[in-house]
Amino acid sequence: MKNYLVTGGAGFIGSNFVIYMLNKYDDVNIINIDKLTYAGNLENLKSVEGNEHYTFIQADICDKDAMQAIFDKYEIDYVVNFAAESHVDRSISDPEIFVQTNVLGTVNLLNIAKNAWQTGDDQYKDGVKFLQVSTDEVYGSLGETGYFMETTPLDPHSPYSSSKASADFFVKAYSDTYKFPVNITRCSNNYGPYQFPEKLIPLMINNVLQHKDLPIYGDGMQVRDWLYVEDHCKAIDMVIRGGKLGEVYNVGGHNERPNITIVKTIIDYIKKNVDDQVGEHLMKYVEDRKGHDRRYGIAPDKIKADLGWYPETTFEVGIVKTIKWYLENKTWMQNVTSGSYQQYYEKMYANK
Ligand code: NAD
Ligand code: TYD
Repeated sequence: MKNYLVTGGAGFIGSNFVIYMLNKYDDVNIINIDKLTYAGNLENLKSVEGNEHYTFIQADICDKDAMQAIFDKYEIDYVVNFAAESHVDRSISDPEIFVQTNVLGTVNLLNIAKNAWQTGDDQYKDGVKFLQVSTDEVYGSLGETGYFMETTPLDPHSPYSSSKASADFFVKAYSDTYKFPVNITRCSNNYGPYQFPEKLIPLMINNVLQHKDLPIYGDGMQVRDWLYVEDHCKAIDMVIRGGKLGEVYNVGGHNERPNITIVKTIIDYIKKNVDDQVGEHLMKYVEDRKGHDRRYGIAPDKIKADLGWYPETTFEVGIVKTIKWYLENKTWMQNVTSGSYQQYYEKMYANK
């Protein structure tokens, strides 16, 4: 049996990863620790509740005692660090919590894992690994051509991407200084089930179904490289099992689309299949995001060559699966948008 400490496992990608792993393997135990911020939701994990290989603990990755207690109690083999404040717009209005969780929380986990795993000078228990889930946003923004490579210098712009880049530097420092066993994955924009509707795709699905404005920042021609979340989970699993220690792997979807194409695709699907009253009249061009990165794009050559990973899900297939999931899980959407979501939404979009 291998014991995985998954942090942030009640969030979007983390919960998909927990479900993916428990469905795929009989010989893994998952210890999911999550602070349950506005973005964490145990409803995502209903299908694994009661699974004997799954444990949930509510805790903050910044809490030294709580993290130490987990390493004391469980023989952790792998840390998969998803826990983060993840939304760029929130980082623009409130950067400090991003430093707290994304930087200090990661350093806290690194320290505690290092102490728990160390067997001698620069020596660690066999087979252990710390996987940092990072983002392509640490590379900054691309022009019309080219792709981010693992060798691209880090040039983050938003408070969010700056906090993730800082965390990446600490992970690298632990590898370089202490020979601590790590990998970093840097993925592009994920989409799929259980994504909180502050992010582009679920926000647009939620709004279009309610005939609400579809807020498009600036000219809507910013490009993101969309990665279906299950493909990402598979990549993380492969990097944990086969990634060369100390290496960074970019994980991209080969699915670049401008934002307005995404929004129009969602409108078209809902119009054809659900509600013919919706249409492009709902699109509303609003004030641009400050410091808005123009284009992200990954050529996932290294992870393909080294580990055989490639994105299996085309955008056309993934977006239909995703929209169908939200249509079948309207109660989930209602639950996550009750409470503080309305205040966030009004504050965020009222003056746009
Ligand atoms: P999310 O916001 O949906 O989930 C984050 C989870 O972390 C939540 O469950 C939250 O409760 C938990 N959390 C927050 N602060 C915590 C703390 N201090 N201690 C413990 N738990 C805490 O995020 P996501 O979209 O699932 O992203 C997961 C990871 O992947 C993040 O590290 C993010 O930077 C990275 N990433 C995401 C994307 C994307 O498109 N969503 C793209 C690239 C990288
Ligand atoms: P988002 O989902 O926030 O991811 P990220 O900023 O990490 O890439 O946004 C994706 C793109 O969609 C980004 O270019 C900003 C844009 N966007 C809008 O135009 N309107 C919106 O309401 C949101 C949330 C995002």
